[in-house]
Amino acid sequence: MAEREWILLNPGPANTSRSVREALVMPDLCHREPEFFEMMRECRERLVRLAGCADRFAAVLFTGSGTAAVEAVVCSAVPRDRAVLIVKNGVYGDRLARIARVHGIPAEVLEYDVTTPVTPADVEAALRRRPDLSHVAVVHHETTTGLLNPVMDVARVAARAGRRVLIDAMSSLFGERLDVDADGVDFVMASANKCLQGVPGVAFALGRRSALEALAAQTPRSVYLDLHGHYVTQERDNTPFTPAVQVLHAMRQALLELEAEGVPSRIARYAENARVLRRGMAALGFEILVPAEARSSILTTFRLLPGLAYDPLHDAMKRRGYVIYAGQGDIRTYAFRVSNMGTLTPRDMEGVVEAFRASLAELRVGVRL
Ligand SMILES: Cc1ncc(COP(=O)(O)O)c(C=O)c1O
Repeated sequence: MAEREWILLNPGPANTSRSVREALVMPDLCHREPEFFEMMRECRERLVRLAGCADRFAAVLFTGSGTAAVEAVVCSAVPRDRAVLIVKNGVYGDRLARIARVHGIPAEVLEYDVTTPVTPADVEAALRRRPDLSHVAVVHHETTTGLLNPVMDVARVAARAGRRVLIDAMSSLFGERLDVDADGVDFVMASANKCLQGVPGVAFALGRRSALEALAAQTPRSVYLDLHGHYVTQERDNTPFTPAVQVLHAMRQALLELEAEGVPSRIARYAENARVLRRGMAALGFEILVPAEARSSILTTFRLLPGLAYDPLHDAMKRRGYVIYAGQGDIRTYAFRVSNMGTLTPRDMEGVVEAFRASLAELRVGVRL
């Protein structure tokens, strides 16, 4: 374990505040006692309030990584006699398709390359062609590249066609604007350890109450990932399985801190982080993979410079205290990722750029040093 704190430029788990980390150390607590239920209730209520969808939505918590919430929603929401339309333009769209496949859910996949957002008209056409598609599943922020999909436009065409939308907003909820309560949206999935700035171990789904209640009529495909089972039990101030008590306690603290900062201010801070990073990296000669109009303000994929491989760059940055992140799949050979979520500030991002400058000098790479 390093003595110093790393600056994490991977897209979660992100840097957290000291108070969030300290919240992990708490008196031992039984998860069937009122003190735990109160904490769980508070987390669930704060989540929907901060997401701007209180009253009509409920938060359902899962102990697990983010995929637990995604898999729970996909395997619970799509009825046994219906199919799901999946948007795939990165690793996490592909994961949605894998989840459908594993659970035997018929799926149609709308595929784009990793730098192209979904075209809502394609969704509309697919829904028109196949009346058996009950849901559209789409990733808001493809963490593979930093690509934003126009999920609100997707929701609009889906609602018009009488279908429902499931949004994987794992790496964007509270970091990018998202109208969770938009017409057509039934479920939004995310986790504690990304833009919420908590620690890993708890994922959650924000579900429209009417959609959650309707699940009562369906036979679950999973025991642990039964969304309705978790929902009704948590509504009764209980939990079907043993939850990550301490992680939830840290999440409660992270929610308090998000409330204090304010969601719009957090979104603005991330956007400024991205601006400082991109301006500095451009001056060093780095180009961005995703076209400007489709970029998030949370993660940037930069092309590697001629003569620069990922591993030496990673190691040079790590020696300076900064952890960058490889591209997924074959992207690793030509690009790498820098996230700016977590407690990082624009000033930290100036430090990131300086560390890149020093790393390039050490590696004797670069055109504009
Ligand atoms: C968009 C998206 N969906 C799903 C996941 C899966 O999360 P986890 O690795 O926590 O299971 C991630 C993780 O980075 C993600 O970025």
